[in-house]
Amino acid sequence: MSGDISVQDLDKEQASAELRRLSALLSAANTAYHTHDAPEISDAEYDALKRRNADIEARFPTLVSPQSPTFQVGASPADGFQKIVHSVPMLSLGNAFDDEDVVGFDTSVRKFLGIPLDEALAYTAEPKIDGLSLALRYEDGALVHAATRGDGRVGENVTANARTITDIPDVLVGAPALLEVRGEVYMSHEDFEALNTRQAANSEKTFANPRNAAAGSLRQLDASITSSRPLRFFAYGWGSVSEPLAKTQKDAINRLNALGFSTNPLTSLCNSADELIGHYRSIESQRATLGYDIDGVVYKVNDLELQKRLGFRSTTPRWAIAHKFPAELAWTRLAAIDIQVGRTGALSPVARLHPVTVGGVVVSNATLHNEDYIAGKGASGSLIRDGKDIRLGDWVQVYRAGDVIPKVADVDLAKRPENAQPYVFPQICPECHSDAIREPGDAVRRCTGGIICPAQVVERLKHFVSRSAFDIEGLGAKQVEQFFLDGWIREPADIFLLEDRYSSGLQQLKNREGWGETSASKLFEGINEKRKIPLNRLIFALGIRHVGESGASLLARNYGTWTDFETAMTSARIEDGPEWETLLGIDGVGPVMATSLVTAFHQEAERASIDRLVGELEILPVMAADTGDSPVVGKTVVFTGTLEKMTRAEAKARAEALGAKVSGSVSSKTDFLVAGPGAGSKAKKAAELGIQTMDEDGWLAMIEGS
Ligand code: IVH
Repeated sequence: MSGDISVQDLDKEQASAELRRLSALLSAANTAYHTHDAPEISDAEYDALKRRNADIEARFPTLVSPQSPTFQVGASPADGFQKIVHSVPMLSLGNAFDDEDVVGFDTSVRKFLGIPLDEALAYTAEPKIDGLSLALRYEDGALVHAATRGDGRVGENVTANARTITDIPDVLVGAPALLEVRGEVYMSHEDFEALNTRQAANSEKTFANPRNAAAGSLRQLDASITSSRPLRFFAYGWGSVSEPLAKTQKDAINRLNALGFSTNPLTSLCNSADELIGHYRSIESQRATLGYDIDGVVYKVNDLELQKRLGFRSTTPRWAIAHKFPAELAWTRLAAIDIQVGRTGALSPVARLHPVTVGGVVVSNATLHNEDYIAGKGASGSLIRDGKDIRLGDWVQVYRAGDVIPKVADVDLAKRPENAQPYVFPQICPECHSDAIREPGDAVRRCTGGIICPAQVVERLKHFVSRSAFDIEGLGAKQVEQFFLDGWIREPADIFLLEDRYSSGLQQLKNREGWGETSASKLFEGINEKRKIPLNRLIFALGIRHVGESGASLLARNYGTWTDFETAMTSARIEDGPEWETLLGIDGVGPVMATSLVTAFHQEAERASIDRLVGELEILPVMAADTGDSPVVGKTVVFTGTLEKMTRAEAKARAEALGAKVSGSVSSKTDFLVAGPGAGSKAKKAAELGIQTMDEDGWLAMIEGS
């Protein structure tokens, strides 16, 4: 078949047939990815098909048709599912990869709560099911809706489909008036095999693994299809409840079981990190015979009052962690090293590998981290892999753990090709040919091209529309790339000018492959919806180096409005003056982040681009959520001295949960100083500035009932 022939050897007739074949494959892949949310091929395979298509078109320009995948910008998103806003966000779990991480988890829980190591602290340990999470809302015992996780805040309404799952009761007897049960939808190995056999016999698509099969089956617009697919459900938690289910995690799960839900029989109570690890080993040894896929063990603090005190970080609970099974390994040949340029200009080496199956997934790309990693050097010059470098043609060991990007771990020198040469890392940006330099102490080489580097510009735009940033419906990474290539958008503000600037925009778009009248007007609708944006999302979306999602939230909470934030950044001078002090005073902002922020706001071109964007937006101030009428909302508090009723970490987390800002230093902006025994210079400064000062009991009395 022409698919096996190298592009150079194709004649025109074969090339034409091959282009038709590639077009069909890419179109199916686009539909699977965008419309059905169930990718059928890996990103690497997709890229390889696209590259082959482009190579053939470059050789035979007369064969390029307007329908070519080169001009395709994805498929229209699945419509039909209504959106459901989760009343309590559906978060994910932090990960532990080895025993040390488990001990670290136990230690940090104890540290936060102030529970010494020799005091008992109970946890549950249960399998982590490899499926997809689902929230089931019951009102007065009746199932009213079922929602997928979505982005954690808004999911898809799959109620009709959930009703077809036998493990999900339609009616509960004796449940709280409001009960939102959360758990995992999955497919057993046996049912998965049978489904694939059936699909193949009917010439329908087969699934790569039970998780994909479960996801594809649950997200069917036609519930009768879901009903013909054997899905199961384990309940492992809950969201909103009108009254507590129990006092402990274990009893709450038992209660869900008594109400008619399947709960995992391998859930166990453990009293120490050692016991957790023991139960992990026991579950690991049963993994192959369970009959369904699991990818680790989840540990949760058993006492629900303690869970409440521990609370959440921005995306994960402090009271639970997933201990993942070890990474899967495989050996393969390194075919090439490509350099990708990220949004901050970082040159990242990517290993192109001869495809190899690692734990059921075909891997053809893996990260090589940075130039030192390739050379066999770690941080501060230490040796990694005993100093063995990595060369083209080498046999390398690839591993993947969970959904993280596969990595290259080791290299087999015995199999090294005789003529292999050390890899020379480029000193010039492969995208814009500007110098790529390494700052002292930085492991990363960066392109100095800034906004003249197309790769940086595109990556910034992709970041801007990503899920945690503007998350514009219908405008994903692929579409951004295409619009950039077309010259339609170069900076974020252009996105909001698309509709106006191309008053014929709709006209132009709907004539393009992959776009119709509906998807084009939906795109503009999606863009317009995001003209109103919360401050934290905007700050994150700007893509300023060292300002991640939680940093952006921290800044938004502390400055409250765009005007205050922008004014402060504009007047701040690095390592100088009160605005700098205030910025550094924010607990969680260090000199690196602060320098990066101030630099961005003083860099002329970058600043102008921010201003143009802001002109298109209505920026919603950040109000502390669910803080009721707490007297500390929006106030700045400083803790000093020893706290006796709770640890410093808990005091900070609780104050922030109530909408207060916690600062590490006293200034005229401080509203309260909470001073425990041993308070020193901060208490003195607060007294000088006339700041209201109280002890821990005074603070607790003030926030009591909030
Ligand atoms: S508890 C606050 N327990 O793992 C989140 N999650 O990586 C509490 N999962 O989105 C989640 N089995 O879909 C929990 N026994 C289990 C689980 C489990 C699978 C999934 C869940 C979650 C993901 C987080």
